[in-house]
Amino acid sequence: MTRVSFPDDFLWGTAAASYQIEGAWDEDGKGESIWDRFTHTSSKIKHGDTGDVACDHYHRFQEDVALMRELKFKAYRFSISWPRIMPQGKGKVNQKGLDFYSRLVDALLDSGITPLVTLYHWDLPQALQEKDGWANRDIARWFGDYASITARHLGNRVKLWTTMNEPQIFSTLGYLIGEHAPGIIDPLKYFPVSHHINLAHAEGVVAIRAESSTAQVGTVLQLPPIYPRTDSEQDQRAARIMDGLLNRWYAEPVLIGSYPEDMLEILKPLNLPIEEGDLERIHQPLDFVGLNCYTRIFVHHDKNVPMLEAMIDLEHRLPDARYTAMGWEIYPPALYESLMRFKNEWGDPPVYVTENGAAFDDEVVNGEVDDQPRIDYLKGYLREVRRALDEGIKVKGYFLWSFMDNFEWAFGYTKRFGIVHIDLNTQKRTPKKSALWYRELSENGGFEL
Ligand code: FCB
Repeated sequence: MTRVSFPDDFLWGTAAASYQIEGAWDEDGKGESIWDRFTHTSSKIKHGDTGDVACDHYHRFQEDVALMRELKFKAYRFSISWPRIMPQGKGKVNQKGLDFYSRLVDALLDSGITPLVTLYHWDLPQALQEKDGWANRDIARWFGDYASITARHLGNRVKLWTTMNEPQIFSTLGYLIGEHAPGIIDPLKYFPVSHHINLAHAEGVVAIRAESSTAQVGTVLQLPPIYPRTDSEQDQRAARIMDGLLNRWYAEPVLIGSYPEDMLEILKPLNLPIEEGDLERIHQPLDFVGLNCYTRIFVHHDKNVPMLEAMIDLEHRLPDARYTAMGWEIYPPALYESLMRFKNEWGDPPVYVTENGAAFDDEVVNGEVDDQPRIDYLKGYLREVRRALDEGIKVKGYFLWSFMDNFEWAFGYTKRFGIVHIDLNTQKRTPKKSALWYRELSENGGFEL
């Protein structure tokens, strides 16, 4: 048997996000978020599901942290709900919201679990959406204030901070495709939105550093490798453009201080609201980058898409490939390929894999969940992390998505990503076989193939 081993100080954790697990959507002074509004009013969520209760983590966090401890996980990535801290998005602070996260952080530290905080995992205060949300340049300042208050409160105990979760996903799905909150379909708004996200990231970094001298600060990007559907020149160009739109547009300003030239050229007619000094501001030095990785993407030429002439092949299926319950191709090299880009293109920062995992149609049989396909998936992707380490990529840790089954955005509760199973009627937590396998890995720093 071959053993795959990792460095002793490698951080093994799991990840989750506020809206997907907390519930308690209007408790203890929390304000409404765009996801509260979206799930309550749009018809775009499977079965009309909402995060009103979710995994009830807000009330059960002690139990959840105790389970993490039992499972020997060393770290936990969670996000903070902005409207829990600032119900109107700015101005008045909700002490009870801060206290919740404070108790969560204490529970983690008491259990020897390192917290990694994400400030924005998509639940914008609805009150800010009324002011045009990410389309308003002022949001950079609002985000900076929110970051500052949160870091002031938790910065003496939390060392690992990230600003955004997957900018390109929440901006495209929220403002271009309309499948996520706030459900807007407006290509003209999309690009200002993207720039404001990058600006807000910078304000967040500066604010966290000002409040905590020990903070290590980064952001979380998803950088799916993008493949042309065919070898044709047109498809290859389309793939490059899509990489520019989804990946380089968010990685490059933050990591190397410039927007990609080819994209600026294509987008010239839009007169993007990039002001003098913006890029210098966005290019804050980072202590690390978080990488989320699930799969790769295929793209083809489509002359009907204005300016870009590129389209994602959502239905692309390869005859020999395997797919998860999301319909995402299981393609472990995606993780290696994305990691390598940091070294080859973007200054070689330390990296945490902040999300990786898979949804399968798990079932509880006799009180157990045998999710061998998930273990196989994880082994495949983790071998690629090992391969990247061998190439000198500074990978510091790995956060499995997700600790428990939860609200999977537009898919509601129909997709199970957890290594802990949740019975949505009783809230009973049952570690799946993969959780026990991951416990071994976290304890021993390696696994047998
Ligand atoms: C990522 C999101 C996370 C989860 C996983 C499956 O894009 O960051 O919240 O939904 O996908």
